[in-house]
Parts: sequence; C-alpha cells; structure tokens
Amino acid sequence: MDNSKTRLLEKLASGDAQVAVIGLGYVGLPLAVVFAESGYKVIGIDLDPNKVNAINCGQSYIDDVSQRSVQELVCQHRLSATSDFSAIAQCDAISICVPTPLRKTGDPDISYIVSVTEQLAKYLLPGMVVVLESTTYPGTTMEVVLPLLSKSTHRLKVGENFFLAFSPERVDPGRRDWTTRTTPKVIGGVTPDCLEVSRAYYGRAIDTLVPVSSTEAAEMVKLLENTYRAVNIGLVNEVLLMCDRLGLDVWEVIDAAATKPFGFMKFTPGPGLGGHCIPIDPLYLSWKLRTLNYTARFIELASEVNTSMPRYWARKVQDTLNESGKPLKGSKVLVLGVAYKKDVGDVRESPALDIIHELTQKGAILKYHDPHVALLNHDGLQMTGVTDLHEALYEADCVVVVTDHSTYEWEDIRKKAPLLIDTRRAIPPPVRKTPQPQAVPQE
Ligand SMILES: NC(=O)c1ccc[n+]([C@@H]2O[C@H](COP(=O)([O-])OP(=O)(O)OC[C@H]3O[C@@H](n4cnc5c(N)ncnc54)[C@H](O)[C@@H]3O)[C@@H](O)[C@H]2O)c1
Repeated sequence: MDNSKTRLLEKLASGDAQVAVIGLGYVGLPLAVVFAESGYKVIGIDLDPNKVNAINCGQSYIDDVSQRSVQELVCQHRLSATSDFSAIAQCDAISICVPTPLRKTGDPDISYIVSVTEQLAKYLLPGMVVVLESTTYPGTTMEVVLPLLSKSTHRLKVGENFFLAFSPERVDPGRRDWTTRTTPKVIGGVTPDCLEVSRAYYGRAIDTLVPVSSTEAAEMVKLLENTYRAVNIGLVNEVLLMCDRLGLDVWEVIDAAATKPFGFMKFTPGPGLGGHCIPIDPLYLSWKLRTLNYTARFIELASEVNTSMPRYWARKVQDTLNESGKPLKGSKVLVLGVAYKKDVGDVRESPALDIIHELTQKGAILKYHDPHVALLNHDGLQMTGVTDLHEALYEADCVVVVTDHSTYEWEDIRKKAPLLIDTRRAIPPPVRKTPQPQAVPQE
C-alpha cells in the first residue's frame, strides 16, 4: 500500500494543499473563496474567459461573494483563475461545480460532468482527491465519474492512491444567515478512505460535515431536499387553484394553518418554480427511477402543477383586464421582477419568462422592471428592463408582481398601479374583517 493517503492528509491538515475548483459559477466561486480563506491556495478553472479575467482582476460577479474577499485573496496570491486544465497537475484536491441542466427532452444532461472528468483524468496523479459537487442522479459518481477516471489512469486505484467523493452544494443564493462555510455539508466517499480524505479536505473550510455511507446516499440526499421543496410547493400551488374555485383566500387559509405549532410547515404559492435547482433536480431523480421501471409519482405531479402556474397567472391577467373592459390584446402589461426569486439577478427557469411569453403570444404589450436584471436575453426573449418604475406604473394597464424584491415599495406600487396581480402576496392585503375570538361563557 503506498502512502498517498498519509501524505495527502498531512498536506490538507497543514493547509499547504493546492486546490482546483472547476466551474466558477454560483456554487464554485463561493466555494473557491472559502477554501482560499481557510488557507488553501486555490485555482479556479472555468471555460468562460470573462469569469477568469474578472477573478484575476480581483472582481466578484456573484452577489453573495464580496468584492473585498476576492480582491484580498487575489492580492495575497491565494486565489487565481485559468481556463487551462493542465493547472490540475499542480493540485492536491479538486472540486467539480459545473452545471447539470436538462436536455430539451427533459432528460439529465451530464455532459459537463463527463467533459470535465475527461480533462481531469489527463492530469490525475497519485495522492489527489476529487469531489463532485454538481447535483446529479444517484449513481453518477460511481457509474460515470469513477470509470472515466479509472479508464485513463489504469495505474491508479480509487481509495488507495486517489480518492473520490460526492458532496452536494446547499447554497441558497441571496441568503445572509447561512453561508457556504456555516451550512452543514453532506459528504459520501467511494470507499471509507475516500471519505476520510475528503472530510479532511472540506473540514478546513466548512464548519459542519455530515458524512454518509456512500456517494449514492450523498447524491440522493440532495435530491430529497429539493424534491421535498418542489412537492410541497406543488401542493400549496394546487391549494391556491382549489381555493380560487372555492372562492377562498388561499393566503388566509395558509396563514391560519401555519398557526398550528406542530405538524405543519408553511410553504407559499406563487408564479411557479424557478432557478437552477428546484425545477430541475427532482427530474434527475424521476429519470433515474424510470430506468429502473419505477414512476416517481409525486415528482411528476408536482412538476405538472408547478409548470402550469405561469399559464394560470397569465389567464388571471387576461380575466382581470377583461373585467375592467379591456382586452389583453393591445393592453400594456408591466411585470415587476423577472429573477426567479427575490433579491437575486438569476433568471434561469424563472416563471416570469413563461408569463411574459404567454402574455406576449396573446397580444399584450409587455414591459418589465427588475432592479437586478437590466437585460433579458433568454430562450428567444430579448428585452431591456424599464428604468423609470414610476412612469412605467402610470403607463401600464395592468401590473403583475412576479418577484418580490425587497427594494420595491409596495404601498407606492399599490397606489399607482391601475390593476394589480400579485403572484406572491408581496402587497399586504387590506385588514380582513375577522370575527373576534369569543370567550366561552362560564356556567
Ligand atoms: N445555483 C445554485 O443555487 C445551486 C445550489 C446547489 C447546487 N447547485 C448545483 O451546482 C452545480 C453548478 O451550478 P451553478 O449554479 O454554480 O452553475 P453556473 O452556471 O453558475 O456555473 C457553472 C460554471 O461552470 C463553467 N463551466 C461549464 N462547463 C465547464 C467546463 N467544461 N470546464 C470548466 N468550467 C465549465 C461555466 O462557465 C460556469 O461558470 C449544478 O449542478 C447545480 O445544480 C446549484
């Protein structure tokens, strides 16, 4: 048995190790920064020359990563970036944070993981640890990454002279109370030694690690977390559709249910799912289960309900205009917020895009305002956001609140908008005339 593991553990413990983070996006850049802050020397590898240049100039392009941190780390030569994969040859530890989107057919697209692993295999040396972070279906690390690494490096044996693990990222962009460092991180190794080494690698930078018995378990944990959200959001969106038919105020019902001190967790309805994770990750799981002849029914149903929401809201706009004697065709509709959630500038999978498509197709004249998204260039949609919100509010026939950014002044918007559709209940409802609780008469 060679002493790759001992040497690597010593290097990781001393902080002397050199780390590569592949993919410097919403997940990779914050991770690269916490690794560098923990003492490792970090090189980020990304194919996007703009990101590489920005990092090397000490600039952050992710809201949650402070400009100052990047600048300081770059000045101290603790953080740099490149597009050249040969930099891996100098590294002891590598984390992979590349995208895992869906294909047009709705099937998982793990081509980014495959391409990066093929590159990585060229430079893999004894005594390296590789951790996959990209969200993916259970089995990817063992069935895809490991064979690719082993194929091109016959002389290296996993768990003996190189180490492989999976550790899903839980970052919630825009959140301030939990950070990459403080959010507990699940980690599973291909072998017990892989787990030990990868725990030593991440343990320097992350406060709490949650070890599990295998890479498959770690992959499944992430999918359970995001499926849990998708299904519960699907449920509460369906409750909204039901309340609409019953003539009930869904928010009143949810608020009252949420007073139960146990056994109820509040989820809120809205315009539909968005972002790189919640709408996509459960479909990775249902795809995998289909290959095993099993239909993931909750996932399929939640996805059906959630994807129908933008159409529901577009119809609401049409009906509301209709009630005030205006056809949707030719009416001016202003969408407030196009990011997939509040206080971020990310429009990936944002339901706002579907709402805009739907309304435009029906002949509405669309404008949007979003303090975080100056330009929309997505999926055939090209629009520039309006900058003068007040003027746009006055000009519009109907205003649709899709993303409840904190900077919006809701009372002002309520006063100025001629017709208002609020998909998030961003605007506080008028005080309800509720019956006062009655004291039970004493006998
Ligand atoms: N964004 C989130 O909130 C979040 C949260 C948890 C998990 N995840 C998961 O993490 C992974 C990464 O997501 P993200 O949001 O950071 O994606 P992203 O698109 O923001 O970043 C990915 C980066 O990888 C780079 N890249 C693509 N192909 C590459 C290649 N072959 N070599 C080197 N770099 C390459 C891209 O240029 C980009 O900078 C995904 O699997 C995602 O599901 C994302």
